[in-house]
Amino acid sequence: METDHQRTSEEESLRQKEAVLHARELVSQLERDLGRQPTCCVTTFGCQMNARDSEKICGILRESGYQLIEEETADLVIYNTCTVRDNANQRVYGRLGTLLAMKKKNPAKKIALCGCMMQESAVIEKILKSYSQVDLIFGTHNIYKFAELLCLMLEEKRQIIDIWEETDQIVEDLPTHRKYPFKSGINIMFGCNNFCSYCIVPYVRGRERSRASSEIVDEIRALAADGVVEVMLLGQNVNSYGKGLSEDITFAKLLQQVEQIEGIRRIRFMTSHPKDLSDELIAVMRDSQKICRHLHLPLQSGSSRILEKMNRRYDREAYLALVKKLKAEIPDLSITTDIIVGFPGEVKEDVDDTIRMIEEVGFDNAFTFIYSKRTGTPAATMENAMSEKEISEQFDRVLKKVQETAKQQTLKHTGKTVEVLVEEVNEHDADMVTGRLSNNLLVHFPGGPELIGTFCTVKLVENKGFYFIGEQLPRKQ
Ligand code: 5AD
Ligand code: SF4
Repeated sequence: METDHQRTSEEESLRQKEAVLHARELVSQLERDLGRQPTCCVTTFGCQMNARDSEKICGILRESGYQLIEEETADLVIYNTCTVRDNANQRVYGRLGTLLAMKKKNPAKKIALCGCMMQESAVIEKILKSYSQVDLIFGTHNIYKFAELLCLMLEEKRQIIDIWEETDQIVEDLPTHRKYPFKSGINIMFGCNNFCSYCIVPYVRGRERSRASSEIVDEIRALAADGVVEVMLLGQNVNSYGKGLSEDITFAKLLQQVEQIEGIRRIRFMTSHPKDLSDELIAVMRDSQKICRHLHLPLQSGSSRILEKMNRRYDREAYLALVKKLKAEIPDLSITTDIIVGFPGEVKEDVDDTIRMIEEVGFDNAFTFIYSKRTGTPAATMENAMSEKEISEQFDRVLKKVQETAKQQTLKHTGKTVEVLVEEVNEHDADMVTGRLSNNLLVHFPGGPELIGTFCTVKLVENKGFYFIGEQLPRKQ
């Protein structure tokens, strides 16, 4: 594997493009054998990073001649896994059982596993022992090599496993297949250096590496030329973008460059760490016409004692001060967050602090999680103070407060006229479409599929808790 690490990004990109051509020959052979176009299905677990990785995998599969379908009856099924909490792992094992039963009936079916879970040695051991019929396993660091791995899988009748501990390689310019024609995620950095004590991400995604700003801007320009109007800049900790690059750049400066790109009308980003959110960034957001009025700012806990044990490097006062500053500069900003309940050592009084914090900040929404022990992280060796039952009760209290607050916040927008980007036909009513506001709220309103990907002016007529029913108004202009 050493030689792979030593190639330059350009050499590697070229090599993978050649591998795609080779995969195309192998897939055409398969097509002749089957008497029809081979199908594949990529199932994504986890976060936006994984969703973006799946688009890269789908791009290569499509270029190789596979037909992408949504059903796991496909000739090739790939699970792009997540391991941030144990229930993510359990979901994968559960579904893998069903998949392997299908393969038993149809041995020609191929199964591949990739993503964060595959970076854990205990997972690989378990798969080798109990799920040995899986055809291909690779990790997060060598996803750019997927075309080459696909060829190996199609050519050889053995199980292919390729997991790397680390990489500093960023390979540009490989094919992708976007899920939405009008919006796209863009990786601006990979990995994480924060080492929050509960979190497995630094171990499965490796050290923080930023892409050169010119590569990011070129990619977004190409996306804009291809009809993309909304971009989501992705990184585990976007606020520390640029560290380690030779150019003089910060995340705020990168946003200013993206703002200049013609055709891009909305810019989002994820995720921000409160400790690194600069005044420069707040000012750039405030003055921007394109950066959306939404900030996802994970709090994790409202108790300074627990925050310290979590190694978050801020306390409740610092978080509150930051929110105050944000709201003063950008009054219409929606703030959402992540909260963990049941971290080792947490007691009811800590949760009281979290609940007070939710009230004080007035979060527009929050994802709440029960702490999940991740082997290898510092928190895994810390003792729990609450029983499972107590944790579950405290979780319910937090969830209730989050829901109340989110509802109050959402209600405030009733009656407003807003601009929305229409994303899809409503799942439950084919005569309605669903649009997203700049602040990330959703509104459903009467309309047809021709509106998808366009901006509409909509009045938020009726509040339904976390979303709105609206009506379209004639375009301003
Ligand atoms: N247990 C529970 N939640 C976790 N998260 C990360 N690691 C864990 C864990 N071990 C949550 C954090 C993070 C979100 C993506 O997942 O809240 O912000
Ligand atoms: Fe995303 Fe983290 Fe899950 Fe990996 S482990 S998919 S980076 S949330």
